Amino acid sequence: MKISGTGSSLPKLEVTNDMLAGFLDTSDEWIRTRTGVVSRHVISDERLEDMAVDAAGKALDSAGIKAEELDFIICSNVVNEYVTPQLSSIVQGRIGASCPCMDINCACAGFIHALEIAESFYMAGRVRNVLIVCAEEPTRMTDWSDRRTCVLFGDGAGAAVLTPGDNIKSIKLSASSAVDKLWQYRLLLPTPYVTKDEHDVPLQMKGQDVFKFAVKAASNDITRVLEEVSLEPDAVDHYLLHQANIRIIKAIQDYLEQPADKFPTNIRNHGNSSSASCPILLDESVRNGIVKKGDLVMMSAFGAGFVSGAALFEL
Ligand code: UT7
Repeated sequence: MKISGTGSSLPKLEVTNDMLAGFLDTSDEWIRTRTGVVSRHVISDERLEDMAVDAAGKALDSAGIKAEELDFIICSNVVNEYVTPQLSSIVQGRIGASCPCMDINCACAGFIHALEIAESFYMAGRVRNVLIVCAEEPTRMTDWSDRRTCVLFGDGAGAAVLTPGDNIKSIKLSASSAVDKLWQYRLLLPTPYVTKDEHDVPLQMKGQDVFKFAVKAASNDITRVLEEVSLEPDAVDHYLLHQANIRIIKAIQDYLEQPADKFPTNIRNHGNSSSASCPILLDESVRNGIVKKGDLVMMSAFGAGFVSGAALFEL
């Protein structure tokens, strides 16, 4: 397939590090130097589905595709206000599409997993036009009195429309079960029969373990992708990495021995928006002219599970 259009949507409220330091034992200096984040967009009165629909509409417009022409919609989402139906069913109805759809929950690596599904369905002859929407509100998962987690995240939605083509060169996915490193429990309703001790637990993260996993997984995934297409890191025009921590991006950049200007970032003003991070970065990089038609792009993401993946495509 090829990525024919992109779109993104953000909540209007921008929360700066200094605003966080107003109620948390933290500082702009700590957050900026340890993560690269200066401000993030945080949901206030918006609904995630509205942002998903907005990003989807922009991606369809930029691809020149009508919702009725879509054959499949994949939404990547960890949490939203609905437990059911899936977010993709809500998006399908609101954009006026009539095709099948499904949600996936692959945390921050959701966009690359969705690309793999779309490409596989296309190669099997089952779809021609696919919409991917990644919409995430991780700020609703963290404990806002926990400075170790809540400062890292931001909300938003990113979308892409895929149409027939041979621009996707290679995708590699990985999984390595590690539930205790990055997890959250959601309390389900009681029944007359449940005897287990259950409670809500906000997002928990062993930061340094996740950091090490991220650098190792991304380096491995990118290397495997390059090996499959017999290319060296120099051949790639842009590395679009999951925006989790500027130090993780720098470590991967050092591993690949590539110049910093090949790694566009937006973590400074977005924080980590889980699976929305990659498609938002792609959309912004396309719209501001950094990534152009014909450029070779390596995308790589990693997250809870652990899961990770890398994809090489020509825009
Ligand atoms: O999307 C994938 C999911 N997440 C990630 O990829 C995140 C991966 N991990 C990371 O990015 C980093 O590990 C963090 C940014 C989460 C933490 O950075 P770190 O350099 O690994 O710091 P640390 O956890 O070793 O903590 C260092 C110190 C601690 O204090 P002590 O024990 O040395 O006194 C923390 O309590 O920094 C303290 N600390 C803070 N201080 C001020 C932790 N969070 C904060 C904070 N403000 N927000």
